[in-house]
Amino acid sequence: MLTSLTLAVLAAVVPANALVRPDGVGRLPALGWNSWNAFGCNVNASAILTAANEIVELGLKDLGYEYVNIDDCWSVMDERNSTTQRIIPNATKFPDGISGVASQVHDLGLKIGIYSSAGMVTCAGYPASLGFEQIDAEAFADWGIDYLKYDNCGVPSNWTDTYNACVPDDSIGSNPNGTCPDLTDPAPPGYNWADSNTSIRYDRMRDALLDQNRTILFSLCDWGDAAVNTWGNETGNSWRMSGDIEAYWSRVAQIVNENSFLMNYVGFWGHPDPDMLEVGNGNLTVAENRAHFALWAIMKSPLIIGTALNELSDDNLATLSNKYLIKFSQDPLIGRSAHPYKWGYNPDWTFDPVHPAEYWSGPSSTMKATLILMLNTEEKRSTRTAVWSEVPELKGKGNSFRVTDAWSGKDLGCVHKSHSVSLESHDVSVLIVKGSC
Ligand SMILES: *[C@@H]1O[C@H](CO)[C@@H](O)[C@H](O)[C@H]1NC(C)=O
Ligand SMILES: *[C@@H]1O[C@H](CO)[C@@H](O)[C@H](O)[C@H]1NC(C)=O
Ligand SMILES: *[C@@H]1O[C@H](CO)[C@@H](O)[C@H](O)[C@H]1NC(C)=O
Ligand SMILES: *[C@@H]1O[C@H](CO)[C@@H](O)[C@H](O)[C@H]1NC(C)=O
Ligand SMILES: *[C@@H]1O[C@H](CO)[C@@H](O)[C@H](O)[C@H]1NC(C)=O
Ligand SMILES: *[C@@H]1O[C@H](CO)[C@@H](O)[C@H](O)[C@H]1NC(C)=O
Ligand SMILES: *[C@@H]1O[C@H](CO)[C@@H](O)[C@H](O)[C@H]1NC(C)=O
Ligand SMILES: *[C@@H]1O[C@H](CO)[C@@H](O)[C@H](O)[C@H]1NC(C)=O
Ligand SMILES: *[C@@H]1O[C@H](CO)[C@@H](O)[C@H](O)[C@H]1NC(C)=O
Repeated sequence: MLTSLTLAVLAAVVPANALVRPDGVGRLPALGWNSWNAFGCNVNASAILTAANEIVELGLKDLGYEYVNIDDCWSVMDERNSTTQRIIPNATKFPDGISGVASQVHDLGLKIGIYSSAGMVTCAGYPASLGFEQIDAEAFADWGIDYLKYDNCGVPSNWTDTYNACVPDDSIGSNPNGTCPDLTDPAPPGYNWADSNTSIRYDRMRDALLDQNRTILFSLCDWGDAAVNTWGNETGNSWRMSGDIEAYWSRVAQIVNENSFLMNYVGFWGHPDPDMLEVGNGNLTVAENRAHFALWAIMKSPLIIGTALNELSDDNLATLSNKYLIKFSQDPLIGRSAHPYKWGYNPDWTFDPVHPAEYWSGPSSTMKATLILMLNTEEKRSTRTAVWSEVPELKGKGNSFRVTDAWSGKDLGCVHKSHSVSLESHDVSVLIVKGSC
């Protein structure tokens, strides 16, 4: 069932130009930090500057993390500036305005992001940008902003879509297996969702950003609605493909399952976004944090850290700093992500929010290697085995390969035929597999 849905969606893809920006901005998955998962509405200049300083001090900047993003709640709630019509930064939270914190972040050699919504108000009820796209884009550019996360709240009734789309999250629960059989007012076959009002709301901000004499990465957050995978590439540099992540394993696994069916949409300049990282938050174990980060990296998702960096554990710092996974994510020559090559726990192509695909592989140009990831989706310790002859990138290339364990960095030598690992619940093994030996 899911396969036919996926194929129908793929067939409707009209190749379109992506949002290509100067200096390679938006070409590779973004690396950075955002305030929301750690602080919610309690954001302010000192939280932003603490994060920025930690990114430098923890060595994350040297690994490529560059964006420090302010999420919702940065402004005055009930009014715009009556003269300029601009959104007014809350002066208690940002005593030197957004431009003040932006210049301090820039002084650290980092970039800064901000947040708005393609509606009348943001998700927390602050002024948003629908109808004010030019004014707001100009203000963001003036302030020195480098990245805009653009949410989907506060949409007035005359901007809603005529048709309903089957959203990945809706397929959970009463509509299993990635379909929405009970969807009311579905779009007619062949409908082009790039013509929808949702797409138009996002296009307006894209065009306003392009009018500015400043490169601002455009991160769409429409929660996977309006078949965004079919038009996200021409509108933004990344697009959320689901509702919000939560800091516990079942939600992480649910999103991995949904995103695993979207890997054909990953490429240079455009990335489905399974939401910001929860590494370090909630009740995720060390193993779950490791699996969460590794899966996001190999799906070539934006890697936006969402935890208080001054409280980060050594284990989680090591996870976020894994050089093999970051190299894979940031490959300058290969745009495609890793793909599942075997579901493992389930038959291939099963849509299962609890047991997503367990065996993934993909090529890396910089490591001149194939990356293999194995995930244990079960609630108990279990063994997973990578069999070289099953891995698309290795098929027909020999029987023995040099293997490095990406977590320990240990050279496992010349490994014949297969490699087995015993994994605790929700843990992953990541192998870097090189030329035959
Ligand atoms: C800034 O925000 C942080 C994180 O929410 C909070 O702990 C701190 O008290 C705030 N500082 C000020 C000056 O409001
Ligand atoms: C600015 O933020 C402070 C601290 O959260 C809050 O108490 C105040 O009401 C906000 N001011 C305005 C004008 O929204
Ligand atoms: C509104 O903008 C004008 C012109 O830039 C500025 O002088 C004024 O201080 C702003 N008002 C508020 C409340 O920010
Ligand atoms: C967008 O909304 C307008 C006004 O409500 C409506 O007339 C139009 O049909 C909608 N367009 C699409 C493509 O759904
Ligand atoms: C919705 O109404 C506003 C205000 O009248 C108008 O500017 C906008 O174009 C309308 N939206 C659509 C899709 O027609
Ligand atoms: C969903 O897929 C699984 C595995 O293919 C199958 O066993 C199950 O019957 C399907 N459920 C529905 C409601 O179609
Ligand atoms: C655009 O920005 C650049 C770099 O800040 C500046 O040198 C140039 O003069 C600006 N161009 C215009 C038309 O404002
Ligand atoms: C997005 O557009 C870019 C450039 O136009 C293209 O190279 C890339 O393959 C597209 N991505 C997908 C998934 O189609
Ligand atoms: C983790 O937290 C979630 C949400 O609060 C909860 O539903 C779940 O049972 C917790 N899991 C464990 C293993 O504690």
